[in-house]
Amino acid sequence: MNVLLLAGGLGTRLRPLTEHMPKPMALVINRPWLEHLILHLKEQGVQRFVIALKHHPEKIKTYFGDGRKWGVSIQYAVERELLGTAGAIKNAEPLLDDRFVVINADVVHDTELKPLLEAHERHGGQVTIALKEVEDPTQFGVVELDETGRILRFVEKPRLKEAPSRLINAGIYVMDKKVLAAIPSHREVSIERETFPALIEGDAGVYGQRIEGYWADMGTKDRYRSLHWDLLRGASRLPVPGQDDGDGIRMGKGCKIGPGVLLVPPVLIGDHVRIGARSVIGPNVVLGDQCVIGPNVRLSDSILWNKCRVHEGAHLSNCIFGYGLELGSRHILHEAVMNRTGVMQA
Ligand code: GTP
Repeated sequence: MNVLLLAGGLGTRLRPLTEHMPKPMALVINRPWLEHLILHLKEQGVQRFVIALKHHPEKIKTYFGDGRKWGVSIQYAVERELLGTAGAIKNAEPLLDDRFVVINADVVHDTELKPLLEAHERHGGQVTIALKEVEDPTQFGVVELDETGRILRFVEKPRLKEAPSRLINAGIYVMDKKVLAAIPSHREVSIERETFPALIEGDAGVYGQRIEGYWADMGTKDRYRSLHWDLLRGASRLPVPGQDDGDGIRMGKGCKIGPGVLLVPPVLIGDHVRIGARSVIGPNVVLGDQCVIGPNVRLSDSILWNKCRVHEGAHLSNCIFGYGLELGSRHILHEAVMNRTGVMQA
């Protein structure tokens, strides 16, 4: 069984961070999310991956190559046109095993595949969809199930009163290859809107299986930020980098912290970061490797990717900075999401 990671979407809602890179390459707690995901799946015994690409495919291919550095094998299925979530699976067909797992690579989670594979074996249908219970299902595809776990219908972004359940499509599927016959080639096809409804209609056996653990879609800026605060507070089983001082402050190696600096948890500081005297960092701050923060700076609820510089006396709150950005002294920024053209990695 191999795993297909869908990583070709435009990531429009996370622009400008995704202007020049696929969304799954956005840093999550200081490492591209796709790397966390591959390592998490490798830990569960997955050895062979296919990644479906379209938007800036070279960024992912250059970073991961054949996967050897991570102890896995990676093949790529690159689309000429945007084919949508089902079209991308169809395009990868020659690389897929008779049974395979599909994962939306922009969902941050620590899902165990074993219960999904067992459920798939048990019910004997052609598709198992991982379902996550959420408080507010109104922004997601919600499912209605019968008592055997068979999915009867999907309701996209229902109003709360009209939601048939609080169980949403988690973007993780086990599939038998025969279902690919139902997906047309060479055109955009949405798995949620077209393929699953057609399979349900055709009685292919589409079942849901509830997943436990952490799950967050990183598709919007608010969710991208808030999932970081969740992960810093230990909400998932994903490993958080750096040394924990036991008080919610994690720091990488080779950091220089000036006198009088106040670190307010939770804070994650990458490797070789410098922070000037009397700065107040936190709560909810992630600093990437080699960031340089001047004296008397205030940072809260913000994420800075590698090699950013914030000069003396500047204030940042609710901000996200891409690689290598610089903020002048005494500037005040609130809710800014910034990036530089063409910079993939600083
Ligand atoms: P928005 O433009 O902000 O809606 O983001 P998106 O289209 O990149 O993500 P969406 O949540 O719609 O898609 C879910 C997952 O499927 C993401 O991991 C996308 O990268 C991936 N995806 C979406 N469309 C395509 C596609 O046409 N081809 C491929 N290969 N992957 C896709």
